[in-house]
Amino acid sequence: MSKVAELHYNNKIFKLPIIEGSENESAIDISKLRNEAALITLDQGFKNTGSTKSSITFLNGEKGVLRYRGYSIEELAEKSSFLEVSYLLIYGELPKKNQLENFIEDISKHTLVHEDFKSILDGFPSKSHPMGVLAALVSSLTAFYPKSLDPNRSAEEVNGTIIRAIAKLPTLAAWSFKNRMRQPVVYPNNNLGYCENFIRMMFSLPTFEYEVNPVVAKALDKLLILHADHEQNCSASTVRIVGSSHASLYASVSAGIAALWGPLHGGANQAVIEMLEAIKNAGGDVDRFINRAKDKNDSFRLMGFGHRVYKNFDPRAKIIKKAADDVLNQLGIKDPVLDIAMKLESAALKDDYFIERGLYPNVDFYSGIIYRALGIPTDMFTVMFALGRLPGWIAQWKEMRENHEPIGRPRQIYTGHNLRKYIPISKR
Ligand code: CMC
Repeated sequence: MSKVAELHYNNKIFKLPIIEGSENESAIDISKLRNEAALITLDQGFKNTGSTKSSITFLNGEKGVLRYRGYSIEELAEKSSFLEVSYLLIYGELPKKNQLENFIEDISKHTLVHEDFKSILDGFPSKSHPMGVLAALVSSLTAFYPKSLDPNRSAEEVNGTIIRAIAKLPTLAAWSFKNRMRQPVVYPNNNLGYCENFIRMMFSLPTFEYEVNPVVAKALDKLLILHADHEQNCSASTVRIVGSSHASLYASVSAGIAALWGPLHGGANQAVIEMLEAIKNAGGDVDRFINRAKDKNDSFRLMGFGHRVYKNFDPRAKIIKKAADDVLNQLGIKDPVLDIAMKLESAALKDDYFIERGLYPNVDFYSGIIYRALGIPTDMFTVMFALGRLPGWIAQWKEMRENHEPIGRPRQIYTGHNLRKYIPISKR
């Protein structure tokens, strides 16, 4: 017999079905609660609320487990490539050799963006943050591909929209950086791999062909894998909820980029480096900043620390910490902020405040150190996160569409005035 939970309320017993996932996670299905008991549930920040059933990513925050489609993040980061992982997330299975080759070829054929994107870029001041520019450029794709506005087209046409999104995001991301530098854009080169192509578009100039270091390309590929999906986080939930109104994939991804931008989410990677720099410039006194983070009257938080779901460790942070060490060694770079980061981590991990609250370094704590070593400027860090997260957003959007999920529309507990009589302005 299927399990039920009982709710005793107003002298009645309401039976609520228990939904179980494939990893034995359980949820109380409250969807009929309002009709039957005139009750809603309230959970600000959705800290304990499932918004969907999903078969894309599994994570267990207590045990530090993260898997894409059942494959462990450790194994994928070591053995796979970003485009292979993208295929896995979007289509559900690891590709066979010819499937991966076709996927890569399809993507490399669509990397170019319409020449008019240059005029759009020209409209942005050079100080524009690349994340704002990127969100606008991705949304502008709807203007160049108007058929993409209808997500109800055939699976093949929707797939074309998906391929274009993956193919064009590196170009748009690199161009958002070129806009900031007021340098001419660099066109994609379809003979290069996904990461090589992006790095070349970032750093080449009409007067100078940037030669991509394979160590740099490999490190970037690994970072993108680690960021590729993270189940129902703020930006993925945004993508799903925007898409649930039948908005296009490009509009939904653009909204995801905006959600990712904030410093509590993807923007943390930029904030971490700014914080480490500030500690270095203030003489490297790590304890002072730890005390500030603990002080409830100070809005300062240890950026790159803490996570809504991981309460023991973030498995991505472990991989990234090692990768940061490797990349710096391979490139022969000595970055003083790495020492500050390690001191900060070790001091925080011994401190009761952080231990009691389960606050550990998250994916963003060390990623910025790698991006710096790769020559990527600080305000491009969150754009790098967006590049990595794109297949996850697409997979979440596609799953939401294929499951025919209803429009996302939470309820609320109203706490405002009861009905009041309008008072003419002369009598107020
Ligand atoms: N520094 C100091 N105190 C913290 C921190 C921090 N980084 N994070 C959480 N706390 C405290 C918080 O003040 C609260 O204390 P108390 O119980 O005394 O009120 C307690 O820990 C629980 O925090 P919360 O804000 O209720 O937890 P949350 O699940 O709502 O927030 C978080 C999660 C990631 C937004 C938060 O830990 C944070 O702001 N971290 C810094 C920003 C950051 O690194 N974000 C990147 C997250 S990983 C990348 C991604 O996927 O987005």
